Amino acid sequence: MKKILMLNGPNLNRLGKREPGIYGVSSLEDLEKRMVHLGMESQIEVTCFQSNHEGDLIDKLHDAEDTGMDGIIFNPGAFTHYSYAIRDAIAGINCPVIEVHISNVYQREEFRHNSVIAPVSKGQIAGLGFLGYELALEAFKREAKGEE
Ligand code: DQA
Repeated sequence: MKKILMLNGPNLNRLGKREPGIYGVSSLEDLEKRMVHLGMESQIEVTCFQSNHEGDLIDKLHDAEDTGMDGIIFNPGAFTHYSYAIRDAIAGINCPVIEVHISNVYQREEFRHNSVIAPVSKGQIAGLGFLGYELALEAFKREAKGEE
């Protein structure tokens, strides 16, 4: 059975309450339930984790490799734009990461246009809302089937 980690960074625990015009009205719990369900339909075990703390996210990235995860779907929140520590953690593991953003960061403030995560990620999806996470899962699914 394939194992995928869905990792969400700072402030994403506030989904549904936080700037709903940008991030929508559904909660992180809604998202996590959906992803676990979608995984189960394809014999993929989806594990979910959210933290507002950089070090906790880094620990999870290391654990993902050590526990043999097949891929990581990661929305690093604002850390995307400046966390070299998270960037280095991703660069230091063999587990592929797909970076996801709910909003279209390129239509927003200038500081959101740069991702220090993108160069060490397999791919990036931005601006498609929660669908972005599902598409990342689909990408891992196809990879597992050799359809990439
Ligand atoms: C975000 C975009 C980031 O710029 C922001 O800091 C977030 C959420 C997104 O999902 O659109 O917290 O990653």
